[in-house]
Amino acid sequence: MTAAVAVALVAKGLAEAGLEQPRREARQLLSSLGGPDGILRADEVLEEGLLQRYLTAGRRRARREPFAYVVGYREFWGLDIAVGPGVLIPRPETEGLVERALALAPDGARVVDLCTGSGAVALAVASSRADLGVDATDISTRALDVAARNVATLGLASRVRLHAGDLWGALPARTHGHYLVCTCNPPYVEARELGTLEPEVRDWEPRLALVPPGGWLRLYTRLARGAMSWLAPGGWLVAEVGARQGDAVAGILCGAGLCDVRQERDLSGQPRYVRGRRPT
Ligand SMILES: C[S@@+](CC[C@H](N)C(=O)[O-])C[C@H]1O[C@@H](n2cnc3c(N)ncnc32)[C@H](O)[C@@H]1O
Repeated sequence: MTAAVAVALVAKGLAEAGLEQPRREARQLLSSLGGPDGILRADEVLEEGLLQRYLTAGRRRARREPFAYVVGYREFWGLDIAVGPGVLIPRPETEGLVERALALAPDGARVVDLCTGSGAVALAVASSRADLGVDATDISTRALDVAARNVATLGLASRVRLHAGDLWGALPARTHGHYLVCTCNPPYVEARELGTLEPEVRDWEPRLALVPPGGWLRLYTRLARGAMSWLAPGGWLVAEVGARQGDAVAGILCGAGLCDVRQERDLSGQPRYVRGRRPT
């Protein structure tokens, strides 16, 4: 079967599944499996093994499994981050946490990334600055397994350490009060909003990565209270927030005693990050 025919077949399945750009995705799927470009090399006959892998991938995507799970990775901060069921797919707007952490971290600082998932933020920070050491935590051992794979693949094991556990409680006691920057993209979806999300998110991404069991207000409150003792004096907390949560989260950070609290927007103009620092 030629690339053009295979792409048309997969695109038909994706269109029937309701995807908005079925031909484009079908071509991307083929090239991400190492196959030929479906337009420039349309007449190329696909080798049988590749064809079968491609058709299988097409069927998975037609069940609305996220593209990144089907191909096994997502690009984040220029890095190929391995992902799969059990771990959240890093989103482009989360790169804003990385930018802020890099801008706020003094030379040789110790950074912590809470709720690290695939490790995307921690790895982006560590890969950008050789002077920084990063601790990264998650409550999900499944997510940490994926993060560990990413740490190894990117050769960052000497500077990124993973810890399993609940928020700050995952960290070794000896690091208490030492962190100069904390990044966190916690689960912040409300349970009642889950049904409004796209099937790729609602049906495939882990619920623990989306909806915090005790609600997002409680989670940000625990995050901010912990920051008051786990951060070094003058250290920064930078958290990602959901739509319409910025004011409440800023209030939580102020209420916990953090100073210089402010909200910042992502590239699409949405309020997306709240930061504050532990007073010196
Ligand atoms: C929204 S995902 C963020 C993943 C990653 N930081 C990113 O931006 O791609 C939230 C992560 O928090 C983890 N998580 C949920 N509750 C937690 C808790 N109480 N303590 C630590 N991690 C938690 C989930 O397992 C999930 O990996």
